[in-house]
Amino acid sequence: MSDLSLLSQRTVEAPISFLMREALAQPDLISLAAGFVDQASLPLEKTFRAVEGLLGSVDYGRAALQYSSTAGDPAVRDVLLTRLLQADRLHVDCKSIDQVIMTAGSNELLYQLGLVLLDAGDIVLCASPTYFVFLGALRGLGARPRGLPIDENGILPESLEEMLSKAIARGDSQRIKALYLTSYFDNPSSITTSQKRREEIFDIVSRHNHGHHPIYIIEDAAYRDLRYFDEDIPSLSSLDEENKFVIYTSSFSKSFSPGLRVGWGVLPKNLVAPLNHHQGNMNFGAPHFSQQVIRRVIETGDFDLHLSKLRLTYKEKMETMLLAAKKYFRDIDKVSWLPAKGGLYVWLKLIGVDTGPDGPLFSRSLEKGVLYVPGCYCYPAEGHPPANNQIRLSFGAQSSERIERGMQLLSDAIRETLALNDPQYQ
Ligand SMILES: Cc1ncc(COP(=O)(O)O)c(C=O)c1O
Repeated sequence: MSDLSLLSQRTVEAPISFLMREALAQPDLISLAAGFVDQASLPLEKTFRAVEGLLGSVDYGRAALQYSSTAGDPAVRDVLLTRLLQADRLHVDCKSIDQVIMTAGSNELLYQLGLVLLDAGDIVLCASPTYFVFLGALRGLGARPRGLPIDENGILPESLEEMLSKAIARGDSQRIKALYLTSYFDNPSSITTSQKRREEIFDIVSRHNHGHHPIYIIEDAAYRDLRYFDEDIPSLSSLDEENKFVIYTSSFSKSFSPGLRVGWGVLPKNLVAPLNHHQGNMNFGAPHFSQQVIRRVIETGDFDLHLSKLRLTYKEKMETMLLAAKKYFRDIDKVSWLPAKGGLYVWLKLIGVDTGPDGPLFSRSLEKGVLYVPGCYCYPAEGHPPANNQIRLSFGAQSSERIERGMQLLSDAIRETLALNDPQYQ
């Protein structure tokens, strides 16, 4: 018998930790794996100015160094809610700041939502593929992530409908507690759920929720600000006019600084108290000083200035990666990728190559000096069948030169792996 709790026994190291160790052990390795942000763009001066501004005033400074309320500082929550309502083209009265919660990064919020909503054996529907860190958290909680197929517009509504009908027919639909989706520039697929799909998904869940226990939609908007083309579209949560079952989660990690650890979310009213109780037990509230730094950079306009520069930086890097993909995979008909217009990732698909950590491509890529995230990590075990022929590439952390070189090395590794079975690739 173990001396650890069941939760601890189920909670294992995230696969990405192994990839990070590989990257650190070989400094020359070009890691296109980690979802790190661009180091050179981290807003040193803007953060310095914000901290100086805070600590330069005895009242503000001492207040920022004090505890705040468990849900987070009301002024910070007000600023964030106002921005969200503007972005979603919603009336100011649609949601109240009581529904807003601050957390130490949005990952903490996702985990806390798991604690609030799930018992062991409960099912969470998600895209297949999906954000693998959340998959790990769900497994730790004893929940069962179940995958739904996607296309270029997001989760397929007919599959969602079918999965729900089957669960109702089997009598276990009450085990389905939530649908998790990253609605903007998904990690790993880079797909943004289209406006039409948002409406379809909302309608299906809404219809199901009449007369059944509610299925919550957890809308993860971690990458919403990293848009390099086109206009922003309203969140899926904006459709939930009565604030009944859509949870919105967001973060300043990708848009400003992951080191500050500022995440936040907007909850349906009935989840506010349970989440606050967990948060109270956990840490009495997210770090207050970081929240004040974020509030200050927003109020001075520094955040928006930073974001517009950051978008240009990432746009260039993304274009470098996509151009390199076109150049180096031009004559490899077995490689394709999904369109990317924002976020940090490109999702490659290979025909007939096992991209997994024990497959031939992964070790060959490491020998060449390039690291990727094996796509198999991003698949839930249940539902839409997992695939082992995909790769998540990230263009966030590396310079454009290293992205280009990494893509070249990867194409060499792919060509050599394909040549093992087919001489035309030699
Ligand atoms: C889809 C998605 N959601 C949430 C997070 C959590 O980010 P953070 O906890 O830094 O806010 C990440 C981080 O990479 C992510 O990719």
